[in-house]
Amino acid sequence: MPSEPALVTNSFSEEETAKKSPISRNGKKSHPAPLGSQWSLHAAKYRQVADGTIFPFALMLADECHQISPLDAPSARALDDGTGTGVVTAALKSLYPSLHVIAADVSPGMIDSFTTRISDEGWENVEARLLDAQNLEGIGNASLSHVLSTFMVCLTPDPKKVVAEMLRVTRPGGVLGLGVWADPYFGALNTPFTKACRELDPGYQSVPMMDEEWTRADNVEEGLKEAGYVDVRMREMMMLKEWASLDEACDHFWNGKNPAVMLMHDSWKADGRPPLEELKPAFRRLYGEAMDRDGKVISEVWITMGTARKPG
Ligand SMILES: C[S@@+](CC[C@H](N)C(=O)[O-])C[C@H]1O[C@@H](n2cnc3c(N)ncnc32)[C@H](O)[C@@H]1O
Repeated sequence: MPSEPALVTNSFSEEETAKKSPISRNGKKSHPAPLGSQWSLHAAKYRQVADGTIFPFALMLADECHQISPLDAPSARALDDGTGTGVVTAALKSLYPSLHVIAADVSPGMIDSFTTRISDEGWENVEARLLDAQNLEGIGNASLSHVLSTFMVCLTPDPKKVVAEMLRVTRPGGVLGLGVWADPYFGALNTPFTKACRELDPGYQSVPMMDEEWTRADNVEEGLKEAGYVDVRMREMMMLKEWASLDEACDHFWNGKNPAVMLMHDSWKADGRPPLEELKPAFRRLYGEAMDRDGKVISEVWITMGTARKPG
């Protein structure tokens, strides 16, 4: 049984909810989903910054899937969809070493990093595939017992297609384990960024970094049921990311090349506005204030996570 990650299961506070725009399945704001090549620029930093924080949640998700249908059964076969640098595969292989895992991602840089990791870790029965989750070409209908995916669906151009593909490749009775970011504005970064922007231009409007319909637990539940999943159980919880220093956190925000963060940078760029460089002092002050926990530098990030099953 994996150990519990540092988490707070809760709904958003009133203040946090007020920061968000109303979210409806019909009236969403669009967001320009980043391409695979854009994720490649971020691959080197991604493992260093995200892996350790996400790993306990990946363990928890793997265990929840295992409770529904055993991942150590000889017939079990899993997909880690949107693997990035492989944190879900790492959790699966640590708990169920002989499990066959296909790990797919649309980004060549992520898949290169993941392929190196397969040999570094000495994993057997792990295949890396360069694939768009909207079209899992080469993965047969009903060929997998489990599909797990963390922090990818909400960042794609067409999450409905991604979910339909997940369902297609799952055996009847098979399991989905899903994690997405719960806040489409990613308030841990967007709130200090927006405040910094408004110090220079009070008219600045923040933009969603991901698809609003695939973030909050209630929306994700509804989307999965519409797609044909049953026994859908999603909840929101808080993930804590501790930084070594405020310098490290700011450097990651400005120079990490995370394509979703770059959407935020781009939202500032407009005729007549000063360069991004001029936002840096205010952002550093506001980001530091938001993350200060008795001298430690900690981001609080809301996530939606849970399981569902294909009927059968
Ligand atoms: C925030 S990272 C999450 C990676 C990993 N699952 C984790 O939790 O650490 C998002 C990942 O989704 C991948 N991605 C984005 N759009 C995709 C698509 N259409 N098909 C497959 N992967 C995609 C990116 O390349 C990136 O590796």
